[in-house]
Amino acid sequence: MATTVITNISSLVTNDPSLGEGPLGLIQDAAVVVDGDRVAWVGASSKAPATDNRVDAEGRAALPGFVDSHSHLVFAGDRTAEFNARMSGQSYSAGGIRTTVAATRAATDEALEANLVRHIREALRQGTTTLETKSGYGLTVEDEARALRIAAAHTDEVTYLGAHIVSPDYADDPAAYVELVTGAMLDACAPHARWVDVFCERGAFDGDQARTILTAGAARGLIPRVHANQLTYGPGVQLAVELGAASADHCTHLTDADVDALAGGDTVATLLPGAEFSTRAQWPDARRLLDAGATVALSTDCNPGSSYTSSMPFCVALAVRDMGMTPDEAVWSATAGGAAALRRDDIGRIAPGALADLALLDAPSHVHLAYRPGVPLVSAVWRRGVREV
Ligand code: NIG
Ligand code: FE
Repeated sequence: MATTVITNISSLVTNDPSLGEGPLGLIQDAAVVVDGDRVAWVGASSKAPATDNRVDAEGRAALPGFVDSHSHLVFAGDRTAEFNARMSGQSYSAGGIRTTVAATRAATDEALEANLVRHIREALRQGTTTLETKSGYGLTVEDEARALRIAAAHTDEVTYLGAHIVSPDYADDPAAYVELVTGAMLDACAPHARWVDVFCERGAFDGDQARTILTAGAARGLIPRVHANQLTYGPGVQLAVELGAASADHCTHLTDADVDALAGGDTVATLLPGAEFSTRAQWPDARRLLDAGATVALSTDCNPGSSYTSSMPFCVALAVRDMGMTPDEAVWSATAGGAAALRRDDIGRIAPGALADLALLDAPSHVHLAYRPGVPLVSAVWRRGVREV
């Protein structure tokens, strides 16, 4: 297999403290050797070994491809009207999901797949090389299973979210819907997914329902992750930690006990600033979580309702401006943090043996992601060793 060296990288984020300076393992004047789909060597440009091919980064910065550990991309339609109403003063509620459920059910498989692929490409152009995505806009056995089938054709990180809201078909009997989600729907969906998720929130599922659904999923080999404490305080975060969920996502309204639980457990706190931006809500307090010792990931939550951005650089900039993170912390959370939330050690870092996923920036350092918000800095992307952008 041909080897390639990327030389003349002004500043390389490895996320491996043994390879460079600080928690980001920064190396100045760096080079990376790619062999097949893996990183083979990382070090000073002047010491790079001979390879078949050579790419000159011309003084650009490099970092691991972003790991977007939370998105909802199997959907059809659009919620511009709802966004407009919100920006005129209306508040966000879980009920808007029903609009997308109706459009998604009416769409063909081909239309859903084309929309998913379009958004994955859009994310890739902005440096995202791994993307988790969920069902949750079908809410019937067939529609949830087809969403997961379509997602699984394009990413390994697929999440069963039959418990997004109670299906409108079961509005009068939520208990029967929970039975469906933990019964026939789980049977149809489990083979296509790695994760099980619940929207634990007023207007969606309460703590007891969420526990039932996550436990049933876990019994089928799916690993829990939870939409927790987004719109209100509630039991989601503590349930996530208690069940050993990989991550508790949103974490916007946290008590001290919630913060302590996250700091004391293995559950990653995944913060989704695009959602607070697009719903004009209070920002999650990343500083409080980091100071307590919790592991924090950043992700887009890309979906047509609460957060229609696929841009990890935008989320990094928001997290630095409004959530108390330093640029270094935000870049770590958008790469290594996402990998931790997906329990992956082969992504989110640039080190020998890791998958060769990296982005070059038209900037001398990763700090520019926050320093130059809204500027399309990502100029090249390798994914699994292949130059994609
Ligand atoms: O993560 N919180 C629940 N689900 C999505 C919103 C989905 C929608 O509004 O369509 C979220 O924000
Ligand atoms: Fe979400």
